[in-house]
Amino acid sequence: MALTDCLAVQIARLFEPETAHRLALGAIERGFFGAPPQSDDPALATRVFGLEFANPIGIAAGFDKNAEAVDGSLGLGGGFVEVGGVTPMPQAGNPRPRLFRLRADQAVINRMGFNNAGVAMVRERLRRFRGDGRWRTGIVAANLAKNRDSRDAAADYAEGAAALAPLVDLLVVNVSSPNTPGLRDLQGPDALIAILARVDAAITQSNTSQRPALLVKVAPDLTPADIADIAQVVMTTESTGRRIVAGLVIANTTLERPTSLTSPERNEAGGLSGRPLFELSTRVLGDFYRATGGRLPLVGVGGVASGADAYTKIRAGASLVQLYTALVYQGPGLLRTIKRELAALLRRDGFEAVSNAVGANHG
Ligand SMILES: Cc1cc2nc3c(=O)[nH]c(=O)nc-3n(C[C@H](O)[C@H](O)[C@H](O)COP(=O)(O)O)c2cc1C
Repeated sequence: MALTDCLAVQIARLFEPETAHRLALGAIERGFFGAPPQSDDPALATRVFGLEFANPIGIAAGFDKNAEAVDGSLGLGGGFVEVGGVTPMPQAGNPRPRLFRLRADQAVINRMGFNNAGVAMVRERLRRFRGDGRWRTGIVAANLAKNRDSRDAAADYAEGAAALAPLVDLLVVNVSSPNTPGLRDLQGPDALIAILARVDAAITQSNTSQRPALLVKVAPDLTPADIADIAQVVMTTESTGRRIVAGLVIANTTLERPTSLTSPERNEAGGLSGRPLFELSTRVLGDFYRATGGRLPLVGVGGVASGADAYTKIRAGASLVQLYTALVYQGPGLLRTIKRELAALLRRDGFEAVSNAVGANHG
């Protein structure tokens, strides 16, 4: 770990987790951890969803819920960032404390409950960012959510899509956060089909010249039958041959509490992320790769903390990889470390391009 990262992690430890995150995000936006733009190893460049990624490593949703630090986050060296989850109306989320470090387990439990500034504010920030002419080579995704008290979930997702479609490259329909009652039920086929149809129509109506790719983010806590159902919905094509869904993000936080957890905070309510999520989320990623016949690009997320972890996700079927929790423990220089390690692993195994390693474990 670089000295600045080590210091940053040590200082952050002194603060209550949410305050630490706020401070870190502010520092990132001020470019504190940014390095002069460097070109990535050519082996890491990859084309997914029709977009050119300089590298396949991204920052996951929840890190920058309100698009406050898009430029700074891209400056950390990832190939893309996902802002949000964003809901149509601003909302406060659950009462604090709602974010817990499980230090001994290299994990976090959160029950934030979609605290965010609302889609109008996020749209304004993204518009400013776009207009600044500072757009780096990275790619921006937005994570769409519903307001806690909304009666019409599909309308909420459609509203978010309509507002943000002209400003982002990817839209992620998040039906998998565990802290909004009933949200995960929207992964069921009927609800999911209805939401996707509304969101697709909203993107069309937004009349954007660059149509963003539509992704669905799923939970890791799914039965084989759930996985088969979701795979069938997302692989469905219209009569024109067009598929509404371009890919899946696998996975959100888990409600499981592995017996290996030792931190005193392990029984806090909420979603668990970080190291203990790695195995489960990678297994579900592989299940989806098989269920979709390797024909749908997948974004692997959950417990990635090293180049070897990213490589494992890629071999299990991920075209792109994201992370969040490991940044808390290893600091923002981690993205550069992961890229270096991943490039070395690809070279070791004779892969000239990262895309050649996608799904390699499935033979
Ligand atoms: C504090 C916190 C907030 C999060 N908020 C969101 C969110 O708003 N939307 C979402 O889809 N995922 C959210 N996530 C889940 C992450 O995007 C990611 O799927 C999960 O943390 C697993 O990755 P990790 O182990 O690298 O952290 C959040 C995670 C954390 C820790």
